[in-house]
Amino acid sequence: MKKIEFESLPSTSLYIKENITSIKNNVYVIAKEQTNGRGRTGNSWVSSKENLMFSFKINPDKIAVNDYPLITLLTGLVVRNTLAYISDCEEILIKWPNDIICNDKKICGIIAEVVFNDTNSIIIGIGINVNQVDICDELKNKASSLRLIFKKDFDKDAILEKFDEEFKLLYRRLEEKDKSFIDQLNKYNYLKEKEIVINNEEYQNKSFVCLNINKNGNLVLRDEKNNLFEINSNEVSLKNNYK
Ligand code: BTN
Repeated sequence: MKKIEFESLPSTSLYIKENITSIKNNVYVIAKEQTNGRGRTGNSWVSSKENLMFSFKINPDKIAVNDYPLITLLTGLVVRNTLAYISDCEEILIKWPNDIICNDKKICGIIAEVVFNDTNSIIIGIGINVNQVDICDELKNKASSLRLIFKKDFDKDAILEKFDEEFKLLYRRLEEKDKSFIDQLNKYNYLKEKEIVINNEEYQNKSFVCLNINKNGNLVLRDEKNNLFEINSNEVSLKNNYK
């Protein structure tokens, strides 16, 4: 496993984007601190030195563009399995598309960005709340860390090593068109049978029950009139309990 470590960077994902031709695939860029961490949907990602922040790029040549969303989902499952292994706790779940949840709180965020150039690349950035003890008041009821949940410190290198091992395995299977990992995603689907709302205008004021994640990686929902339909990557949140 190859890694490049920095004391501080604006963002590990941005670093890869700016050095896209010189950074090799699957090399981990790690920063102890990010001064301009990026989250999904234009949010920023504020973290602390006790946590793990890293990015790497992959070349998705063997994967159809339509299946790119599966790469993000697969990454979420790999993080979930890694954290379950390292903490010896099964109750680590995936909130579709790729937040990792434990005790109803987010402990990891994942962002995947496609860079279209001569050879397409996908930059995957992962922030795991590992040994953080202070969570700001604003996030206290939404976010936590492994340290706060399991009351002990975790080895960040061991987390990355396990992630690397598992990612390579599952990604190779996806390259071979094996999508069986989706069954595992459904097993650990945090939203399963929960009532959710979708945070965009089209679906405002409606509520849905989440059924499952299908082979395309879409979330299958049932509306109030019992119609089934699927969505691909909107922000979803729980109806009665916004987390
Ligand atoms: C989310 O919004 O949940 C995704 C957060 C992703 C944060 C990680 S930290 C390492 C990498 N570098 C970034 O700037 N963002 C990702």
